[in-house]
Amino acid sequence: MLEGYDHRFVLGPAGNEAPTLLLLHGTGGDENDLLPLGRLILPEANMLSPRGNVPENGMNRFFRRLAEGVFDQEDLRRRTEDLGRFIDTAAVRYGLDRERIIAVGYSNGANIAASLLLRRPSALRAAILLHAMLPFEVEAVPDLTGKAVFLAAGRNDPIVQPENTQRLADLLRSGNADVSLYWHDAGHSLTRDEATAARDWIAARSADL
Ligand code: MLT
Repeated sequence: MLEGYDHRFVLGPAGNEAPTLLLLHGTGGDENDLLPLGRLILPEANMLSPRGNVPENGMNRFFRRLAEGVFDQEDLRRRTEDLGRFIDTAAVRYGLDRERIIAVGYSNGANIAASLLLRRPSALRAAILLHAMLPFEVEAVPDLTGKAVFLAAGRNDPIVQPENTQRLADLLRSGNADVSLYWHDAGHSLTRDEATAARDWIAARSADL
């Protein structure tokens, strides 16, 4: 347990100076869920995978919601800070390069990663946000110069409306992030295609990350 998070850390084959993927699962998931995805996306990376510590009817989440897609904003703000502290502490504990932490989040995990990027951009070098939405109304867009973000979303997602992912992409771009947005025709589930697209996206940037 670190900073209130049960988690898994898997040292990558290239050692702890390699990039670290911060794996953030969806509602009802746990710290094991995204390890295979992480290995597919960047096999040489370290994997840091916390378990969401907010229960909802027995399901793990990273922050509270009042209804589907309606977030408890005060809780989201607080949990985003908690997650930032977890990354800081884990980086020291495992000797990670703090400048090479890349979030890989799905659904609820993607939403807290987006919140972290918007509230504390220095926490992440890059982010892969799968089925994410704009998690809160942003008053002042932070400077996201140098941040690379890959978004994937389904045109038929019943949980995250396509317009909402588009708003997140537009907002990140207005902060000067380098944003790639990958659309597919599926719904809320992770698809093999988007995982492959994320892998190709990161491979094309490996020299910078
Ligand atoms: C969320 O609560 O973050 C989104 O509604 C996605 C989900 O986890 O269902």
